[in-house]
Amino acid sequence: MENIRMVDLVSQYENMKEEIDAAMQRVVSESRFINGPDVKDFSGNLSSYLGAKHVIPCANGTDALQLALMALDLPAGSEVLVPSFNYVAAAEMLPICGLEPVFFDSRPDTFNLDEDKIEDAISEKTRAIIVVHLFGQACDMDRIMSIASKRDLKVIEDNAQSIGSTTNLSGGDQKFLGTIGDIGTTSFFPSKNLGCYGDGGAVYTQDDALAEKVRMFANHGQVKKYEYDLIGINSRLDTLQASILNVKIKRLNGYIEARRGVAAYYDDQLKDLDWLETPYRNDFSKHVFHQYTLRIKGVERDALKAYLESKGIPSMIYYPKPLHQNPAYSHYRTMDLKVADQLSNEVLSIPMHTELEESTLDFICETIKDFK
Ligand SMILES: Cc1ncc(COP(=O)(O)O)c(C=O)c1O
Repeated sequence: MENIRMVDLVSQYENMKEEIDAAMQRVVSESRFINGPDVKDFSGNLSSYLGAKHVIPCANGTDALQLALMALDLPAGSEVLVPSFNYVAAAEMLPICGLEPVFFDSRPDTFNLDEDKIEDAISEKTRAIIVVHLFGQACDMDRIMSIASKRDLKVIEDNAQSIGSTTNLSGGDQKFLGTIGDIGTTSFFPSKNLGCYGDGGAVYTQDDALAEKVRMFANHGQVKKYEYDLIGINSRLDTLQASILNVKIKRLNGYIEARRGVAAYYDDQLKDLDWLETPYRNDFSKHVFHQYTLRIKGVERDALKAYLESKGIPSMIYYPKPLHQNPAYSHYRTMDLKVADQLSNEVLSIPMHTELEESTLDFICETIKDFK
């Protein structure tokens, strides 16, 4: 079987080519490339989708984290808790914003930060926690918000991998991830569940004052043109990218359903193999499967990866090294990170996207089953 991809953006585009081409052509004809009307429309569309009072588009998901931290304005040198088994963006923005990452451990089942270990990681200097809803599944926001309110911590939700996922909260509310903490951030990197055709990101919050600050920081700290109340950066979502996102956001729920269908197929085919674990689902949220990540336990993970490659099946290791093991981050305070270390040796993500056909899924599953 040919051309199996981890993410198939080509086929996805082919399925909405006319609408995307028309949107892009219109933006080019109007030539309002910066802060054109599509950007405002997209902000409104995402805000209605998520039920977030404010959505501020920006240039990428890393900038979104930076803008969130700038707006929260924590005292210089404050510690911020962040999981070590994670993409680098949250950790790197902390020193850049004059803050100290403190790495703590993950859960072996969901791969998300371990809520049981938050309290132990808090010191007198701790002021915030960055909650990363990894691979499309929610952290336990009830527990996190209750610890945060008891210990006076700000909560930043990194929603780059989990847009569209909802969680049930005590009291019966169901909310979209990213809208529960003080501030949420996301990325529209092309392979994300809602991806554009380049870089893009957004910050969301229910808080008017935080939103105003994020808007200003993203626009050079300007109150109005050429008047600067804050020292800011330049972080904008292009009009062209916004026009693409306006086409794709209408399809987001369909994309999520397609991903869940792929996950259910994999679960069904792979669940009986005793040398791997299929993804665990917590019972309070709805997984949106940004990744379908296996834990390989009874065979050599890297040998399996090489074998799949030889059969034309791509796979990826997210993440091969927890952040604390990297020279740039090894001098920061850490907690016991046994699970993060273990996960990095065991995880393997297999193809997950919106256009996977049953024959391809069948081939992938049969090939995996034949490994041992
Ligand atoms: C969890 C997480 N946070 C932040 C980012 C950063 O997003 P961007 O690449 O748009 O800067 C990513 C991107 O992969 C991510 O996965």
